[in-house]
Amino acid sequence: IHHTISTLTFTFAEMNLLCVTVVLGLLAGAWAQVMPAVDRPACDSPEAEAAALVAQDYLNAQHKHGYKYALNRIEDIKIISTPAGDVTYVMEVDLLETDCHVLDPTPVANCTVRPKVLTAVEGDCDVVLKNVGGALTVTAFKCKTEESTEDICLGCPTLLPLNDTNALDLVHASLAHYNNNSINATYMLLEVGRLTSQIVSGGPAYKAEFVIVEGNCTNDACEPLNDIMATHGFCTASSSSATVDCKIFPNMVKYSINSIIQYTFFLILFIHHGLKHHKLTRFHNPELNTLLSAESLESAEVVPVAPAVSVVAGASPASDPSTTPISLVPLCPGKIRFF
Ligand SMILES: *[C@@H]1O[C@H](CO)[C@@H](O)[C@H](O)[C@H]1NC(C)=O
Ligand SMILES: *[C@@H]1O[C@H](CO)[C@@H](O)[C@H](O)[C@H]1NC(C)=O
Ligand SMILES: *[C@@H]1O[C@H](CO)[C@@H](O)[C@H](O)[C@H]1NC(C)=O
Ligand SMILES: *[C@@H]1O[C@H](CO)[C@@H](O)[C@H](O)[C@H]1NC(C)=O
Ligand SMILES: *[C@@H]1O[C@H](CO)[C@@H](O)[C@H](O)[C@H]1NC(C)=O
Repeated sequence: IHHTISTLTFTFAEMNLLCVTVVLGLLAGAWAQVMPAVDRPACDSPEAEAAALVAQDYLNAQHKHGYKYALNRIEDIKIISTPAGDVTYVMEVDLLETDCHVLDPTPVANCTVRPKVLTAVEGDCDVVLKNVGGALTVTAFKCKTEESTEDICLGCPTLLPLNDTNALDLVHASLAHYNNNSINATYMLLEVGRLTSQIVSGGPAYKAEFVIVEGNCTNDACEPLNDIMATHGFCTASSSSATVDCKIFPNMVKYSINSIIQYTFFLILFIHHGLKHHKLTRFHNPELNTLLSAESLESAEVVPVAPAVSVVAGASPASDPSTTPISLVPLCPGKIRFF
């Protein structure tokens, strides 16, 4: 408002208006000292990227089944700083499913994102992070996982529900075949990861991905070995080539205590009846949901004192309009890494 006072000659009425303006200005100044300030860095800034990678790794460590997800795009970021020095990041990130199972020790940077033609699965997450002693930590998140429905083509492989009878026959037959040819251990099915079918001449061709764990066998009866020393592996099987290929993971003992807790949970055979893919954990700390909703955040936002032109959606509000150039280029969302 004080930017509207530009003329040097004013009437008595305008004097009063000026006084009111000054008082309001002082109140606004005091208000700004107790209210948090909101900063919007560019979505591709190193700061945003570092926070997004912390979020990616945290989300991957949360889910106990299915595949690792890789960062595809930073949609939005707000950094809220309180005068007391608390720094909170509120971000929206898009992730894509990779072909590395969560039990696979391969770092997510080395995993392959599934191309659209193989039916990509997308994760859309709102994440709240806090800067605690210089280290960013996720305090809450909310995720939505969906099969990509773009670019679905006739004759492309389609995802099947994880309880599809024909595809599960392939899983059991190929595991029996694998066990028949493995000398040292009998493996048991731990989780069905992905089932697809493709129409080819001669009927549907099935492909299956599944996780195996070493069994504890006495006589003919086996049960999954409930031991952190147990060997795990990831198998891909194809009905058209009648092949099964299993990658045995390096021993789980390397995993941290946190992972060992998750590991115990794994030993429940995981089949999502009727679902076609494993989902990211849906949310964490729902009591922080106000921060996870963009609308509710707006009301707590202090718009810095600056000409209206700098409040452009996605642009970084200039804290001092006289020294900072005003950017009209939207700084969010950021670049697309895969598709
Ligand atoms: C991951 O990729 C990097 C760079 O390509 C490579 O040096 C490293 O050995 C890979 N790690 C694994 C576990 O594959
Ligand atoms: C296991 O191997 C034996 C001998 O190689 C073969 O006769 C049998 O059909 C195999 N069974 C399966 C389930 O692959
Ligand atoms: C069986 O175990 C031995 C000794 O632990 C190992 O050298 C060999 O590679 C294993 N064979 C298979 C097929 O896993
Ligand atoms: C294997 O199963 C037997 C019988 O249920 C049990 O006594 C034994 O402790 C199991 N071994 C391991 C390593 O879990
Ligand atoms: C798969 O699960 C869905 C939902 O629970 C169920 O309606 C369907 O009958 C199941 N299909 C098979 C083949 O078990």
